[in-house]
Amino acid sequence: MLRIDLKPTRELSKFEKARRDCVIQSSFYIYWNDFVYAEPDWTILVWEGEEAVSAIEIFERTIQVGGKPLRVGGVGNHATKTEWRKRGYATHALLAAQDFLRDTLRVEFGLGFCKDNLVPFYEKFGWQVVAERVLVEQPGRSRYLEDKIIAFSTRGLPWPPGEIDLRGLPW
Ligand SMILES: CC(C)(COP(=O)(O)OP(=O)(O)OC[C@H]1O[C@@H](n2cnc3c(N)ncnc32)[C@H](O)[C@@H]1OP(=O)(O)O)[C@@H](O)C(=O)NCCC(=O)NCCS
Repeated sequence: MLRIDLKPTRELSKFEKARRDCVIQSSFYIYWNDFVYAEPDWTILVWEGEEAVSAIEIFERTIQVGGKPLRVGGVGNHATKTEWRKRGYATHALLAAQDFLRDTLRVEFGLGFCKDNLVPFYEKFGWQVVAERVLVEQPGRSRYLEDKIIAFSTRGLPWPPGEIDLRGLPW
């Protein structure tokens, strides 16, 4: 039976961490690059019985847009194990994340990154492309990360103008 769990990442058990890693690593190895990434604050896991089939993680961060601070819920590590795809599991995870951003974290925006081919998927749920690159911190220097930068407004507000500086590691 389908179950959606949301908890602080630091409270995941060894078993849950292993299951999460299995979902995320098996889906993301194709994107591996030389960036150093942030540790998530919250993990959402979608379970079918004893098997974690889909995941999404949330990163609390005050970024800067056009030089002004903006508190966002970073959304990343959104993945479904290959053999469980196209059955709506990633949709369950994404909708749980959007509710959490709006009702619990109470941030104005979710912010994530995706490849061109997935933009229509996120647009279906109200996300919009707001930039093509962001400034991120990396050990010893700042650097641009290029991707489709997508934002979700929890209250229907427009994304503010200006360069996006994540003020930390990317997610
Ligand atoms: C994207 C991903 C999380 C979707 O998981 P899922 O559980 O299959 O998603 P759902 O069943 O809820 O929805 C399926 C939708 O995903 C979209 N989608 C999935 N893979 C896609 C691809 N390669 N190209 C375009 N759209 C894709 C489609 O819109 C599809 O909807 P449709 O079948 O009705 O057209 C999964 O394909 C995955 O783990 N991919 C690798 C990791 C990744 O790219 N994550 C996103 C990083 S931004």
